[in-house]
Amino acid sequence: MDITVNEAIKQRALESAFAAMQHAYAPYSHYHVGACVLCHDGTLYPGANIENASFGLTNCAERSALFAAYSNGVRKADIAAVAIVSDGERLATPCGACRQVLSELIDLHIPIILSNGKEQQILDISQLLPLAFSNEDLHHA
Ligand code: THU
Repeated sequence: MDITVNEAIKQRALESAFAAMQHAYAPYSHYHVGACVLCHDGTLYPGANIENASFGLTNCAERSALFAAYSNGVRKADIAAVAIVSDGERLATPCGACRQVLSELIDLHIPIILSNGKEQQILDISQLLPLAFSNEDLHHA
């Protein structure tokens, strides 16, 4: 089920994510991903996927954007929407690692807007990662 999001917010987040996608460093996969964290105050934190010859060190676009936001003092209460875009045939849904990171760094019902320029879907992290492992699980008696 699609989550609703203000049209202007959606357009700003998508525009920033598509611009970030142009900066993807993907010489191995040739798969370009852009993301944007949009804050309630209108600030945008774009990110792109950054690959490495040691493949496991690759950083996905959504983690790049989230880490840029957090590195600038943003916290989950500040975040209004996240956009994730790709140049693939299918919508890029976040990988498992990114779902885990999203589940800790954004609120449960924040819209996550996916687009490849042809299709679009809006979900939240409760749909993408039900029963997430969280800091609550680390609290012992
Ligand atoms: N990638 C992302 O940036 N985000 C996703 O949600 C899925 C995958 C990147 C990682 C790698 O650079 C390339 O896409 C192929 O896996």
